[in-house]
Amino acid sequence: MTIKPELIETLRKKREHIQHNITPEKLEALHAKGLLSARERIQVLFDEGTFQELGMHARHNAVHFGMAGRDLPADGVITGSGYLGSQQIAAYCQDFSVLAGTLGKMQARKITRIMRYAIKTGVPIVAFKDSGGARIQEGVDALSGYGDVFYANVLLSGVVPQIAVVCGPCAGGAAYSPALMDFVIMTRNNSHMFLTGPEVIKAVTGRTTTMAEIGSAEMHASVSGNVHFIAEDDQHAIGLVKHILSYLPSNNTEDPPHNLSAPIDENPDHGLDDLIPADPSEPLEMQSIIRRLVDNGELLEVHASFARNVIVGFARFSGVIVGIVANQPMVMAGALDLDAADKVARFVRTCNVFNIPLVTLVDVPGFLPGVDEERGGIIRHGAKMLHAYASCTTPKITIILRKSYGGSYLAMCSQELGADMVFAWPTAEIAVMGAEAAVKMLYRKDLDKAEDRLARAAELAQEYRNEFASPYEAASNFYITDVIEPCETRSTISLALRKTLGKRELRPSKKHGNMPM
Ligand code: HXC
Repeated sequence: MTIKPELIETLRKKREHIQHNITPEKLEALHAKGLLSARERIQVLFDEGTFQELGMHARHNAVHFGMAGRDLPADGVITGSGYLGSQQIAAYCQDFSVLAGTLGKMQARKITRIMRYAIKTGVPIVAFKDSGGARIQEGVDALSGYGDVFYANVLLSGVVPQIAVVCGPCAGGAAYSPALMDFVIMTRNNSHMFLTGPEVIKAVTGRTTTMAEIGSAEMHASVSGNVHFIAEDDQHAIGLVKHILSYLPSNNTEDPPHNLSAPIDENPDHGLDDLIPADPSEPLEMQSIIRRLVDNGELLEVHASFARNVIVGFARFSGVIVGIVANQPMVMAGALDLDAADKVARFVRTCNVFNIPLVTLVDVPGFLPGVDEERGGIIRHGAKMLHAYASCTTPKITIILRKSYGGSYLAMCSQELGADMVFAWPTAEIAVMGAEAAVKMLYRKDLDKAEDRLARAAELAQEYRNEFASPYEAASNFYITDVIEPCETRSTISLALRKTLGKRELRPSKKHGNMPM
């Protein structure tokens, strides 16, 4: 017995209708703007032929206000899973061509179903956000749907990686879903994200503003910190998704995809010396140091435009995947401020939940002094760093390159905060405060009396640096593991990482720590 041909014909027609809901002209217009259709995004994300769609035929409930007779293919969202190499990934993509990708009850059910599938199978989820928000016709059902999505975001948090790609509008409370995910990418020209738009802000506060000022990718990446990456267009965004995923495990029970068969690079790198300024008051350019140290000079910087006084990102040391945290002395001398503390704390926690070792590179003069900093809560924000590092149980290797003063010595993962190994360059200065400030504080009266005040102060500062703040002082008290030559840094980190990868730490059981927020 063979199946009746008309049954197959009906199925094919239904599929065709749902899958080809955009005319070639509209598609061309999307491409001209750097956009892909929802189905194209899914197609570009996955290896060919591996995507299985879940719920293609699901429909909205026509009893909702004004919805009778509305044909909404796939209810405006494509959900399913596919493969990237050997790694399965779950994904959903809101389809703006279907009633602006708005979310109602069925769309929310489809989204939460694929999220629960991701958690059950232990695979990352990628969410393309391209939507006019809550589907007005569905009223409280739409609001409830968002609540279900947020709840699922929290359920998945810390279990499987969640990556949001905002490639169109993401307005109102809907913006909380990306905010609850691990990484947020926005496309530069086609996306915007905000809670209340310019009209509402004008009506409520009287202030005139623009979409660029409150909701652009540029603003979120550099000012609000809501966004980790800017992509030039949809294709670039999907490339970034794949790049991020290449550093992550599928879920929190697995290790990231280290290449442990890669040989450990034991060669000294004397080229590094050329990147270190001879004068300690001249800032060091940390980006070039990092790229000199890591495999193939590859660093995937996260939050690159936000709090540029610190650098965080993913890289590899002789095949071992790490999260890097580093001060950037070229910006605000590398001092830690409110945003920098948030950026580091968040990244450290992201690494910890996905079992990624941390390498911390220190050249920090301290927490930024200032009225705005104190009033803005630098104590609370700085405490996030302390909390994040001390709670982190993945391998932690710290290198003190030059300055490491005061609270920032601890906040940049000193031994006391749980670093497994701490290495210092001979150029390191470790103390409660910088040499000049310390001399001023300790010898003010003597200096006031001194004939050649400036020369005496400089002499004392040098003495302080050489003896008191010297890395050997810290090493003699066993606060650091060893003093190393800069040329040994890459091999030292590579070895230390291999040795600490199997590290286990037992902590008292609790619901969760109470991180300062
Ligand atoms: C129902 C909507 C809709 C919505 C757009 N449409 N937004 N239908 N609910 N929220 C419909 C339009 O009526 C139109 O239908 C079609 O989608 C395409 O929309 P256009 O406006 O023609 O497209 P465009 O000019 O590109 O503008 C897109 C847009 C704009 C920027 C998204 O539509 C817009 O501002 N929409 C409203 C956004 C909004 O305020 N959402 C609610 C946010 S509050 P037809 O039938 O004409 O094709 C929210 C609460 C969530 O989401 C709370 C969660 C906690």
